[in-house]
Amino acid sequence: LQFAELEGFGEKLLKHNNKIFPYFATDLLKIKSFRTRSDDVFVIAYPKSGTTWTEEIVWLIQNNLDFEKASSVAHSDRVVFLEEKPLVQNDFFEPPRVFKSHLTFDYLPQNIEKNSKIIYVMRNPKDMLVSYFHFVKWIKGFSFVGEFSVILDHFIQNRIIYGNWCEHVNQFFENTKVLFLTFEDLLDSPIETIKKIACFLGKELTDDQTQKLVDFTSFKKMKKNSSFFFQKADDSKQQNQLDLFFRKGEIGDWINYFNEEMSSKLEDKLSKELNPSIQIKYFSS
Ligand code: A3P
Repeated sequence: LQFAELEGFGEKLLKHNNKIFPYFATDLLKIKSFRTRSDDVFVIAYPKSGTTWTEEIVWLIQNNLDFEKASSVAHSDRVVFLEEKPLVQNDFFEPPRVFKSHLTFDYLPQNIEKNSKIIYVMRNPKDMLVSYFHFVKWIKGFSFVGEFSVILDHFIQNRIIYGNWCEHVNQFFENTKVLFLTFEDLLDSPIETIKKIACFLGKELTDDQTQKLVDFTSFKKMKKNSSFFFQKADDSKQQNQLDLFFRKGEIGDWINYFNEEMSSKLEDKLSKELNPSIQIKYFSS
């Protein structure tokens, strides 16, 4: 692991094999040897694609819709952020364990594919980038100062954290063991998508349970759930952080950030690098 300095970023990031990683992923190269269990579930996504939302749904399904615990125990003590937590701590999490990660297979635990269930979430990269732009501006450790166009250039040249977005998405789409979902499906058809997740996890939910889960994990409710407080600061600061993290939760905010030239730059990259089946299924209108 080396340090990387990226235009606009106030803090040093990490670099490995020409890929940029967040500053906190210092145990990155130890993750491969982490021992998974057969009842482990991994929620994987490129950052700002609906990872937290999906984790919460998965945790609740795995824990028999324990809404009380989901309201009272910090989310970060329920779901393990693989590359952020020192690995030794992961042993303290009781099964059934739910993990989140933004890593690709080359960095994930060696036996993950054979052993555990993997759910992947993709989001329209234009909306993902707008969300990322806001996130890296406010979150400690990134301190991005710059225009949105700088973020777009980083994206085009594979210089945003976790590497080339197209390769990331392709890799999980092409693996038949992975349940491949989209942010847009979760927002547009939450009932069907949640049922799909439950079925993949081998659980059955009644219509009433599904509806309760949809309500509990709605944008408005999650934004008010204090289990997502990011740090033990005073209440006003915590609410501010929640407001920044649960920013809009919408489809299509990109229209306020992209001009025609920027759109065609990004679309050009997708047409060259994204698996054509993904393009046809999700991006042809
Ligand atoms: P926006 O910044 O566009 O609002 P991640 O968890 O991968 O970091 O993704 C964060 C994005 O998911 C943010 O997008 C956040 O608002 C959105 N999000 C989180 N929970 C959500 C929910 N329950 N419904 C809709 N969007 C949600």
